[in-house]
Amino acid sequence: MIQKRYIPSHVAIIMDGNGRWAQQRNQLRAIGHRAGLKAVRKIVAYAAGLKVKVLTLYAFSSENWKRPSNEVSALISLFIYALNKEIKSLNKNNVRLNIIGDISRFNENLQNMIIHAQNLTKNNSGLVLNIAVNYGGRWDILQSAKKMAMQVIKGEITIDEVTEDRFGSTMCMSEFPEVDLVIRTGGEYRISNFLLWQIAYSELYFTDILWPDFSQSLFDDAINAFNARERRFGGIHNKEHSC
Ligand code: IPE
Ligand code: IPE
Ligand code: MG
Repeated sequence: MIQKRYIPSHVAIIMDGNGRWAQQRNQLRAIGHRAGLKAVRKIVAYAAGLKVKVLTLYAFSSENWKRPSNEVSALISLFIYALNKEIKSLNKNNVRLNIIGDISRFNENLQNMIIHAQNLTKNNSGLVLNIAVNYGGRWDILQSAKKMAMQVIKGEITIDEVTEDRFGSTMCMSEFPEVDLVIRTGGEYRISNFLLWQIAYSELYFTDILWPDFSQSLFDDAINAFNARERRFGGIHNKEHSC
């Protein structure tokens, strides 16, 4: 149960632990990824109900290509399956789907599916669901740096006009509220090249629970932990204004 009902505007999740979940059951890792998809469905619906504005899910990192080819294929196939199967119900539930990452590495068919899914839901006013596929935080910073460099080369801006705001405005998700809370399941205490620029002042929450076991009440736990934090953004607490 959520104790104090301040709901973070933007929650980002590193959904880790599918492989270990399957291994614990003597099953193939792909089965773990399928179980992970079920948890995604559950959490998307729950976050939408709580009126979280933006939910960003790390589904496939730019480094996950290093996995055996059968696992990579299983993950991409699952993504295609989910995109096909879920898009109608997402649309019906007023969810806006947005894919972040370097989609140019995918075949044309998949790129078109992504564009179609985004277009179909682009005017929806409910939950924004960002799915990070072939996403890397370093890639994101680099693509923004290249855009800035191009504007300078073309003489559209000067080097001094490359400000933090302007640079940030070409990063993925700049149109959405800042990331308030990052949750990582699966027991690792690292970012694994997920959002870098965007989480400068996010609260980080780590849990040992493997992603397929993540539930509504564990999401509540993360929000409760978030509410117990004091965010100072480099300042000091209001009550400390005594001198
Ligand atoms: C996370 O689960 C899903 C992806 C990276 C696509 P893992 O597949 O990394 O699961 P573990 O960490 O091996 O248990
Ligand atoms: C992070 O998990 C990527 C996703 C959840 C999509 P990984 O399992 O790839 O991360 P590492 O290898 O443990 O850092
Ligand atoms: Mg992992």
